[in-house]
Amino acid sequence: MKFFLDTGIVDEIKRANEWGIIDGVTTNPSLIAKAGRTQADVIKEITRIVDGPISAEVISTKASGMVDEALVLTKIHENVVIKLPMTVDGIIACKQLSKQNIKTNVTLVFSVNQALLAAKNGATYVSPFIGRLDDIGHDGMQLIREMRVVFDNYGFATEVLAASIRNCVHVRECALAGADVATMPYDVMRALFNHTLTDIGLEKFLADYNKSQR
Ligand code: E4P
Repeated sequence: MKFFLDTGIVDEIKRANEWGIIDGVTTNPSLIAKAGRTQADVIKEITRIVDGPISAEVISTKASGMVDEALVLTKIHENVVIKLPMTVDGIIACKQLSKQNIKTNVTLVFSVNQALLAAKNGATYVSPFIGRLDDIGHDGMQLIREMRVVFDNYGFATEVLAASIRNCVHVRECALAGADVATMPYDVMRALFNHTLTDIGLEKFLADYNKSQR
């Protein structure tokens, strides 16, 4: 499973990139607003740090505007992936961009039927939002499982990009369900390293080593 960092904060990307486990980055307008910089600036800087797919989201609500924005964004760097909303216009733009070999990430996906529409129109990635489904009492992980089955049933090359990940259990379950990618906030990615038994075990090994040196 590939790991993408879900952030617009460049310092977080630099720190996580040192771990060697980041395959790409996703952003959205809220994350860019949190960074307090323009999307173009943030995306440009990320492309200098991470050599992998970097999702930048369009703002237009009409397909033609989305395509125009995509053409500008892809000029920033060849790794830029165009994030399109799961709307009728977003799916029309997805088809047009995939015909031009421009990579897309259809976002705000909450049902397997929406995922199917995006895959049919050649989306490179589809982003089901697990956490937001859980928030309203649905089972976000069930959507990942269903998408895996449907994409495999029809041999879609579209990748399942599990998004809105809130904790380490989400990451584990995504891997078990066969998601192609999990995009997660910095804190969740950092927490993946942790286990109390690792800390206790290491403390004991070091204490025993120090005793043996006396
Ligand atoms: C994914 O691409 C989105 O940016 C993100 O995962 C949304 O997460 P949230 O529901 O925690 O805002």
